[in-house]
Amino acid sequence: MKALRYYGARDIRYEAMEDPTPQSPRDAIVKVTACAICGSDLHIYHGHGFSEDVGYCVGHEAVGEVVEVGSAVSRFRPGDQVMISAAVGCGACAPCRAGVVNKCETNSGSCYGLSAALQGCQAEAVRVPAADGNMALIPDGISADQALMMTDSLATAWFGARQADIAPGSSVAVVGLGPIGLMAVEAAFIMGAAVVYAIDLVPERRALATAAGAIALDPEAAADHIKEATKGRMVDCVVEAVGVDATISLALRLAARRATVSVIGVAQSRKFTFPMSRAFGQGLTFRIGTCSVPEEWPALIPLVQSGRLKPERYISHKMPLSEGARAYELFDARAEGALKMVLTI
Ligand SMILES: NC(=O)c1ccc[n+]([C@@H]2O[C@H](COP(=O)([O-])OP(=O)(O)OC[C@H]3O[C@@H](n4cnc5c(N)ncnc54)[C@H](O)[C@@H]3O)[C@@H](O)[C@H]2O)c1
Ligand SMILES: [Zn+2]
Ligand SMILES: [Zn+2]
Repeated sequence: MKALRYYGARDIRYEAMEDPTPQSPRDAIVKVTACAICGSDLHIYHGHGFSEDVGYCVGHEAVGEVVEVGSAVSRFRPGDQVMISAAVGCGACAPCRAGVVNKCETNSGSCYGLSAALQGCQAEAVRVPAADGNMALIPDGISADQALMMTDSLATAWFGARQADIAPGSSVAVVGLGPIGLMAVEAAFIMGAAVVYAIDLVPERRALATAAGAIALDPEAAADHIKEATKGRMVDCVVEAVGVDATISLALRLAARRATVSVIGVAQSRKFTFPMSRAFGQGLTFRIGTCSVPEEWPALIPLVQSGRLKPERYISHKMPLSEGARAYELFDARAEGALKMVLTI
């Protein structure tokens, strides 16, 4: 098959790769019909990924058609159209059965395309381990584009907003307006936010947040603006969707007394200085970590089916997988209106 393989910083190649084969009776092989590039793939692209491996296939967001199932797979058959969860669990322990994949007792924190250990899905086909637990039939009334957004980015946005304790009447700030931050803005309003401040460096992305009803701010001006607008109180809930020291610091600065800060940006820093005494004085709640994608599906599926959430509107580009290297370049440069990059096969 053909796949996108990582060879080093800014070096992603469309190349031949061995076809995936089942490694256990619980595995399935899925022919990928569309996959997407995530902000986390950019960390890999910049050369500070999640392993030292090279030559592995990248990507962890995909939908496709089941072509082969192991003898122990009971929920799927060849021909089924499926969405594959980016977060991968053993499918058998109690947390996995509840969809809380990142609490998996045997396989914590696994994901496709971060190393050679589990090959990615920016490829013509992918092996899905413990398939009964790690993918789902695309629900009725949900398009393939919408399902693709649910495999990671929409789920993470929803999770990030949930983890920020947003309640009716909350004031909210979202730092970082990539696809995930923009969808976190929408999630905040659905959860009842009274006001959402949306912060990013890129004017086009701020304009999309304004269109969603937020007050869009440049990061330089954000803290002063919010301080004045709230008479010094700051906001109840902050969602951070970038992962660098500057934005995590900003997120903490925007937090009011008894606020909650939810960091979903993949933390790039090895030694961030946490403002402990200020957090203590404020009674701050700080949450950080990965999203257990299937855990968010029961809430998201009806919201997408009913049209309350339209995640597909953040798809800016559809390109063939063979142009994957160019898609990475555009997404990285945030050029040509690049937002969610979808690769089709
Ligand atoms: N926690 C999880 O489970 C999980 C899952 C998927 C992705 N992520 C992470 O979520 C983050 C967002 O992903 P995405 O797909 O939206 O990526 P993205 O790269 O499109 O979005 C990042 C945004 O941050 C903005 N930004 C960068 N520096 C900034 C600064 N100093 N101030 C304000 N804004 C700044 C960029 O302009 C961009 O719009 C990434 O870190 C990604 O790795 C986490
Ligand atoms: Zn991701
Ligand atoms: Zn498990």
